Amino acid sequence: MKHVDEKKRRQLVGRLLKIATHLGAILPLALLFWDYQQSNLGADPVREITLRLGKSTLILLMLTLAVTPVQIVLGIKQIGPLRRLLGLYSFLHLCLHLLSFVWLDYLFEWSFIVDAIIDQKYVLVGFTAFLLMLPLALTSTNWSMRRLGKKWKQLHRLSYVAGILAVVHFLWLVKNVYTEPLIYGAILLLLLLVRNRRVKQRILGWRRKAKRAKVGVTTSAH
Ligand code: HEM
Repeated sequence: MKHVDEKKRRQLVGRLLKIATHLGAILPLALLFWDYQQSNLGADPVREITLRLGKSTLILLMLTLAVTPVQIVLGIKQIGPLRRLLGLYSFLHLCLHLLSFVWLDYLFEWSFIVDAIIDQKYVLVGFTAFLLMLPLALTSTNWSMRRLGKKWKQLHRLSYVAGILAVVHFLWLVKNVYTEPLIYGAILLLLLLVRNRRVKQRILGWRRKAKRAKVGVTTSAH
């Protein structure tokens, strides 16, 4: 009975986490739409739209990349299914970020767009990140996972490369004040460190020790 209750509780937590993820990922878009409706986007609305969508893409990408490291450090299994959801939302925000660039900024003037991608290195790096995330979004289905087998995992490691390119994109586009992109860079470095095989084994070892010590304390207390 206790086992059934625990299973139900886990399912409920999993469902609530998914709902919170949907809401959290849609909220920035709803706010952007609201601010647009209210003419609340400042003197340069097109730039504001691009910047806001860029920021939400980066935050969602970082959260996607944080799922596995958080599982390693804290052992919370329920957050596993959020990885795909966060990744797909990050890609949606990225598509809108790109759309605001090619549509609102460049009015679909393709020759100017190609020039901008080639000439401005921060745009080139951002575009490369988009090209990397495209196959990841396309192969995010269970069917692709089954078909690609081991290769799926290898392919999806590219998300970390996309993360690095995204931080470089941010670093290269800011002028003078580098604090914010450097903070994202430091977070990414930490996430990559936790995924390193040696570091991961060590953390898992500490967690096992802590668990054993806890079990020891509770049994001796009885
Ligand atoms: C994973 C991919 C990408 C991420 C995470 C990303 C993220 C960002 C971020 C965080 C900003 C700055 C926001 C701020 O200062 O508050 C930004 C700005 C910008 N991004 Fe991206 N971006 C990506 C891809 C792209 C692509 C594909 C393009 C276009 C081809 C692009 C074009 C721009 C432009 C034009 C700006 C505004 C620069 C300015 O006016 O100062 N980005 N992006």
